[in-house]
Amino acid sequence: MAKICELLVSVSLVFHYLSIVNAIDIPPPSFFIFGDSTVDVGTNNFLIQTEARADSLPNGIDYPYSVPTGRFSNGLNSADQIVRQFGSAKSPPPFLSLLQDMSTFKKNILQGANFASGGSGILVDTGREIYKEVVPLGTQVQQFGTVQANFTEIMGPEATRLALSKSIFIVSVGGNDLLDYNETTSGLSKLDYMSSLQQTYHSHLRDLYNLGARKFGIVGVPPIGCCPAVRNALNLSGCVEPLNEFARGFNTQLEILLQNISSTELTEMKYALGNSYEMTLDIINNPSAFGINEINSACCGQGDLNGASPCLDIDNPSLCVNRDEYLFWDRIHPTERVSEIAALTFHGGRTKYVTPMNFSQLAPTF
Ligand SMILES: *[C@@H]1O[C@H](CO)[C@@H](O)[C@H](O)[C@H]1NC(C)=O
Ligand SMILES: *[C@@H]1O[C@H](CO)[C@@H](O)[C@H](O)[C@H]1NC(C)=O
Ligand SMILES: *[C@@H]1O[C@H](CO)[C@@H](O)[C@H](O)[C@H]1NC(C)=O
Ligand SMILES: *[C@@H]1O[C@H](CO)[C@@H](O)[C@H](O)[C@H]1NC(C)=O
Ligand SMILES: *[C@@H]1O[C@H](CO)[C@@H](O)[C@H](O)[C@H]1NC(C)=O
Repeated sequence: MAKICELLVSVSLVFHYLSIVNAIDIPPPSFFIFGDSTVDVGTNNFLIQTEARADSLPNGIDYPYSVPTGRFSNGLNSADQIVRQFGSAKSPPPFLSLLQDMSTFKKNILQGANFASGGSGILVDTGREIYKEVVPLGTQVQQFGTVQANFTEIMGPEATRLALSKSIFIVSVGGNDLLDYNETTSGLSKLDYMSSLQQTYHSHLRDLYNLGARKFGIVGVPPIGCCPAVRNALNLSGCVEPLNEFARGFNTQLEILLQNISSTELTEMKYALGNSYEMTLDIINNPSAFGINEINSACCGQGDLNGASPCLDIDNPSLCVNRDEYLFWDRIHPTERVSEIAALTFHGGRTKYVTPMNFSQLAPTF
């Protein structure tokens, strides 16, 4: 009897040991998410001053239990939809929400975190004047630096290096920087502004790499000249071409930057760049192929194209019923349905939509 028990104990110890080895060898893919409102899952709920908020209905009306979570969407946003394509049910919570409970912080942080903040950009000043308070990309990266330190304290440097090298870093940013450009206040020509954006983006990516990030799923800037907010102000009859051109220029330079740094400086970097510009334009040019009926007006908002004000209950906005048939949820952001289409495209799409590989090819192979 005693022998059998001993045997059982040692067998279970072996299994325990194997499962630890296994867990270290092939951790579940963790996600760390950075950027702006396209991927903010509630960071800005923790900023007292900010005016970039989505914490009231109708935001979240199609989220489970119709909860407004801070996502700028009727339901899930791109952070959720991208992570779902990898087989994870839920995208990681805001880093700022994990900080609220120190007793669970260490356990939760190992599964990933979301640092993205609505209204923010690559540059430290982007969004500050319009929205009063945002977390710029550089600060998001610094916050991740504290997380990396926490990992190291918990797991030691080697296991941290291994875990982070297998994690996927999603970055979706740049649109607010382009929308915020003002030659008068920045004192920079468009060309110089663009190169300052690329240099700053470069340094943020380098910082992430130096903290251990290796796999990057990066989302470019969509045709911002087509969003109802911009069209409401500048061109009701169609997209604002100069802004779209600005977006295309940004995306082209970003592609060159990523090619360059991944082959010369950050040689272990593996990346996939999602072309949200092409993807959105495809929907605009052929909406019915995607089951979309309304590409001009936002579902929720006020004024021409529902583009005059954000989607917030205090403004008593108008709200569409058939939300899955709309390209735009509010005056800037896509609907849950369109972010799902985007995620599907980035995950499994051809090089027209995601380059040099697709997001699925970033994942660890089992
Ligand atoms: C995480 O790391 C930061 C920076 O090193 C530190 O201030 C903080 O106390 C750590 N948190 C935990 C829960 O260890
Ligand atoms: C640019 O900045 C100047 C100076 O603050 C301001 O007067 C002007 O309205 C701004 N232009 C735009 C398009 O925001
Ligand atoms: C406004 O929209 C029309 C129709 O698409 C387009 O021809 C025109 O170039 C646009 N104007 C600007 C400034 O982009
Ligand atoms: C590529 O990177 C190198 C080293 O960082 C730099 O000197 C060069 O100007 C870059 N080229 C382009 C096209 O960005
Ligand atoms: C994209 O991903 C799928 C797997 O999801 C893969 O089979 C396919 O080869 C990839 N497509 C391209 C063009 O790389």
